[in-house]
This record gives sequence, structure tokens and C-alpha cells, in this order.
Amino acid sequence: MNKLIVTGGTQLRGEISVSGAKNAALPVLIASLLTSEIVRISNVPHLNDITTTLELLGRLGVQFVVDEKMTIEADASELTDLRAPYELVKTMRASILVLGPMLARFGQAEVSMPGGCAIGSRPVNLHIKGLQAMGAEIDIKDGYIKARAKRLHGARIFLDISSVTGTENLMMAATLAQGTTVIENAAREPEVVDLANCLIAMGARIKGAGTAEITIEGVEKLSGAEHRIIPDRIETGTYLVAAALSGGDVRLRNARPDLAESVIEKLREAGAHVETGPDWVHLDMKGERPRSVNVRTAPYPAFPTDMQAQFVVLNSIAEGTGTVTETVFENRFMHVHELQRMGADIEMQGNTAIIRGVEKLRGAPVMATDLRASACLALAGLVAESDTVIDRIYHIDRGYECLEEKLSQLGARIRRVADYPAPAMRAAAAGD
Ligand code: UD1
Repeated sequence: MNKLIVTGGTQLRGEISVSGAKNAALPVLIASLLTSEIVRISNVPHLNDITTTLELLGRLGVQFVVDEKMTIEADASELTDLRAPYELVKTMRASILVLGPMLARFGQAEVSMPGGCAIGSRPVNLHIKGLQAMGAEIDIKDGYIKARAKRLHGARIFLDISSVTGTENLMMAATLAQGTTVIENAAREPEVVDLANCLIAMGARIKGAGTAEITIEGVEKLSGAEHRIIPDRIETGTYLVAAALSGGDVRLRNARPDLAESVIEKLREAGAHVETGPDWVHLDMKGERPRSVNVRTAPYPAFPTDMQAQFVVLNSIAEGTGTVTETVFENRFMHVHELQRMGADIEMQGNTAIIRGVEKLRGAPVMATDLRASACLALAGLVAESDTVIDRIYHIDRGYECLEEKLSQLGARIRRVADYPAPAMRAAAAGD
């Protein structure tokens, strides 16, 4: 298994480009299931979660042409299978998104239950309840969600929690349902809007995406389309925090700072000088140490849970004491133990981390537990004395395109190494 070794102490400087948003690319790729015509998607990031999605869609019979810039043409004209198996769903929960489109277009679908996951129980009850309201018959048997419907019909659906993938699944299903569907308390995340824009380009009739009430008038069929994925606001935020932590001066291009306002506001509060244009953002810390900030995660447009771990690191080395409260997921503080091992002064009180800033962290061997937690450990390594060795970095590869290349471009000392053989294996290899 590969590891990342980060040698701290450099101020990040320079310019890099932001990749396409993972959380927009996944549902947009899956939306290709809704039509027999070709959907052409550009600005797709090169990530393990994208590979998993292509593998899953490929198993269902979708054919792809992928060019060197990761523009993907998806052709779902002939599906061979309507079943998403456990071995793929368990590696990526967003696989549940195939349920709505397959059911809407083919009248049946089988998707493995995603099961538990490192950041809480993350159920899919809202996806199921919404589809049932649209007339689906759903059985949960042998660990699989088995869904059937002659043709889905429109419905008024109130989501108890504004689930992002829940909204996306139901919105996709509703595009081919008979009649009008209204999703109330819908997620307002920019990735939902990006998916809606792709669906509209395919001929769907959707109003209100980006607000808490989305109305979808079902159509008989959708057509092919071209769509460009929006820039990744979480990747943007992560590099801005990296720059701020290190006292650096960094410019990000191909970005959408208007989608990261809550994060940029907090960085300004922490003392960063931030300038933005329509497709770029520039953060200059002028060599200063950041000040602590208080952060509370909540659905968009509030502060994103996917930036929570990065701000725990920022506060760890900031001046003063700051709090970070997680309200979206239970159990999303596994990175705290690892940061404490690096010398961070963090006390947990329920779902709030109270962080007293220290001047420097210390390098240590640490283990990535989930996608955003793993990025936060790389950030911590940038401001640690001596080397930080991060294990289980496959989590990083799920969601950050070329993390070490991009950080190196900004002057960070970071490298990927293959795991050293264990002592017993070394002995065997040496013939001892
Ligand atoms: C998406 C994002 C993820 C982000 C999260 C919150 C993708 C692929 N992933 O995940 O990066 O951290 O939004 O912004 O877009 N819930 C239920 N029942 C359900 C569905 C969700 O109780 O049927 C709960 C969850 O347990 C959680 C909350 O709703 O507490 C929000 O989860 P949700 O918005 O669904 O997250 P995902 O869509 O899985």
C-alpha cells in the first residue's frame, strides 16, 4: 500500500488549476442511464471514485469513450444488467444514485444496500421513501434494494433531511415519471444544480434547482447532451486552507469562488487576504499565522461538512482557541485522534471540537480514515516539524486529483512511496 511523506516547513506559493467537482461528476455520469443517446461530459476529474462509477456503469452495459482530457462519452443505449453489486456499492456509497434512473427508464433496478461507513450510519431511507411515493414497489432482501414500477408517477415529496444524493436520485427518477414531482426541503448544493443543468440539456423540465423546492415535470424520453462539470469547491477550499496554514500566497484558476463563499469568509476571518474573480481566487497570508475561527457545518450555503477536517487543522496551529461543530454527520471526527498524535491540542465535547492553537505540529506516522480526513493529515504535515507519514492514502485518491503534484507545484515537499516490505518479508527477500 502506498504512503505519502510530507516534510513540513515551506510556505506555499504559486498557481494551480482546480479540477472538476467529484460530487457533480458522479451523478452526471450516472444520469447517462436515463437516455439511449450519447451524453458527452467534460472536465471530469481523474479519481478513483470516477473509475468506480465507470466500472459500475460498465457492468450495467454502458459503453464509454474517454479521451486524454477526461472528456467522457457515455452510451447507455443497451443495458445488459440492472443490478449494482455489493462489491462496488460498498467502495462508493454514491452508487445508490443508479437506483432512480434505472427504475425510471427500465421499470426495475436492484442495488446493494450501502451498509455502514466510517463517518456514521448514513442511511438511504429518504431515497427509498421518495421512490415509493412515486409508485415504486420496493423490497429489501438479501442486502439488496429491489425496486419495480410500471411507470413512476409524479408526487409531492418532503425530505426530512435535505439529503444531497437523495435529492439527486429523486430528481433523476422524476424526469421520466408521469406527471409533476415536487421535492420539498431539497438540497441546494451546487452539485444538485449542476446535475439539474445537465438533465435540462437532455430535455428534462426542472425548475427551482438550487432552492429548497424543485419541481420536475416528467417527459416521455430524454436525449443526448453535452455538459461541462463545475469546478470542485471542496478542492478549492482545501488548497486555500493549505495556503493559509503555511502563511503562503496561492492563486487558484478554473475555480468558482462564488460557490465557496462560506469558506472564503472564514478564511478572511482567520486573517487571510482573499481576492476573487469569476473563475479565480487568490489568497495571501502575508507570512502571518492564522487566527482561530469558530465553524459550524450545515447544508449549503452554510459551511460544508466536507471542509470541517481542514478547519480543525487550521485552528490547530492558529493563534487562540476555536471551535468546530459538526451537525451533518455523526462520528466525523476520526482525524482528531491522529492530529492529537501530531501535538494538536483538541478537546471533544459532543459534536464540537475545542481547539487551542499551538505554534507547530510534530510529524508522526498517521492513518487516513476517510476522504476529507486524509486531506487534513496532508495539510497538517505541511506545518509539522519533521516528516509526517500518511498511511491508507487510497482515501485521498478517491477525491483529490494529483494532490501531491499540485502541492509540489506550490513548493510543498511531499512524495508518494510504495510501502516498505515488513521486516519478515525483508528477511525473506534477503534470503535470511
Ligand atoms: C453528499 C456528498 C458528501 C457530503 C454530503 C453532505 C456526494 C457523492 N457526497 O453525501 O461529500 O459530505 O453530501 O454535504 O455528493 N440521511 C438520512 N437518510 C437518507 C439520506 C441521508 O438520514 O436517506 C442523512 C445522513 O445520514 C446525513 C445527512 O442526511 O446525516 C446528510 O447526508 P446526505 O446529504 O445524504 O449525504 P450524501 O448525499 O451521502
